[in-house]
Amino acid sequence: MLDVKLFQMQAFLPADYEEALAPRLADAQQKLQTATGAGSDFTGWVHLPRDYDRAEFDRILAAADKIRRDSQALVVIGIGGSYLGARGVIECLCSPNYNLKKKDGPNVYFIGNGLSADALEEVLELVADVDFSVNVISKSGTTTEPAVAFRFFRAALEKKYGREGARGRIYATTDRARGALKSLADAEGWETFVVPDDVGGRYSVLTAVGLLPIAAAGVDIRALMAGAAAMMDRCAQGGADCPAWRYAAARYALYTAGKEVELLSCYDPAFRFMAEWWKQLYGESEGKEGRGLFPASVDFTADLHSMGQYIQQGKRLMLETVVRLGPSHAELRVPRDETDGDGLNFLAGTSMDFIRDRAMEGTLLAHTEGGVPNLIVEAGGKTPEALGELIYFFEYACGLSGYLLDVNPFDQPGVEAYKKNMFALLGKPGYEDRRADLEARLRA
Ligand code: PA5
Repeated sequence: MLDVKLFQMQAFLPADYEEALAPRLADAQQKLQTATGAGSDFTGWVHLPRDYDRAEFDRILAAADKIRRDSQALVVIGIGGSYLGARGVIECLCSPNYNLKKKDGPNVYFIGNGLSADALEEVLELVADVDFSVNVISKSGTTTEPAVAFRFFRAALEKKYGREGARGRIYATTDRARGALKSLADAEGWETFVVPDDVGGRYSVLTAVGLLPIAAAGVDIRALMAGAAAMMDRCAQGGADCPAWRYAAARYALYTAGKEVELLSCYDPAFRFMAEWWKQLYGESEGKEGRGLFPASVDFTADLHSMGQYIQQGKRLMLETVVRLGPSHAELRVPRDETDGDGLNFLAGTSMDFIRDRAMEGTLLAHTEGGVPNLIVEAGGKTPEALGELIYFFEYACGLSGYLLDVNPFDQPGVEAYKKNMFALLGKPGYEDRRADLEARLRA
């Protein structure tokens, strides 16, 4: 069961900080539970693990099953909240090397999450000679990066299978009623899945946005939802026993004590894209009105050999949250070597998990002594249930954190600025005035 531990926090925070924050946490809790805080139109994720659409869930399972039968590759097109959660879960549970492994299901390629021609062409080449399907994901249905990528893959599908054949291989996950993608899907007869109105992109991994690609990769999405539901029940209780409450309280207290950066670390490289998902969740939810911890992430132990120096002795601006995924699936022990040329026989017979855990403890002590407070999230295993719990835990703590910070945790007004400039510079109709101004400023 997921737990949050605060490591030697007395060195950084007064003993009664959680008690002092309790009334504000209770207020944040009430706002989330009753959808009465800022951005309350986007709190559908709070009860989603209980209230999700069962009929659509069955359609997701059926579509995933079909993809697993008729496709050697699934191309998942989406960006931001329409991308990171699915990739995070697949890499965490199936491995970052999933596509290279022997398996029953399709390779999963993520594209439409940038504007690189090379990345696009590479995936087009990877699917050129195999049967493939496409899951295009965009809540708004109008985001440039996935829309442009989808043009290429739709054309590739129609060239390979004809328009009719392509129809059975395109799955569109988008708004229930609005947007260009929804209109296209209806006109073309593609199967559609819904991003609920009241769930924003970065909170949508447990909707069809994440569930279809995750199920297509063979992950048990019922177990994922069950884990999330268990955590939803714990979070609904609130109070000092609620891990999300304790995490939100500690990181907020450290923020008000002057910390500016939260480093999420994990000792399993499979977690890398879960950390990317977490960065979007916290960065977009808290980073506004000149406030918020800057979310960053590191892969340990690899980054102890690069970023470790800064963490230990650089500017004292960070706190660290360590995600411990629990026991590895592999039970590897260090082999004995008769010559002991590398001097490692003192570890012969020792499990890799034991070595990893000592490295973690050593780092915990070193970083804490170096002035970096450490929070530990014990995730309880690399299983769909445990990951469902972890996802909901981070989402709920993020909602609480946003309200503690007194910002709207569910909007992202700052994301529009680059889009407007890009549209203007690309000559999109309606942006003519801005274009002239921007071009003059670029030349200045
Ligand atoms: O969290 C968000 O709202 C964003 O990251 C969006 O998910 C991202 O911009 C993609 O938007 P859309 O799903 O509308 O294409």
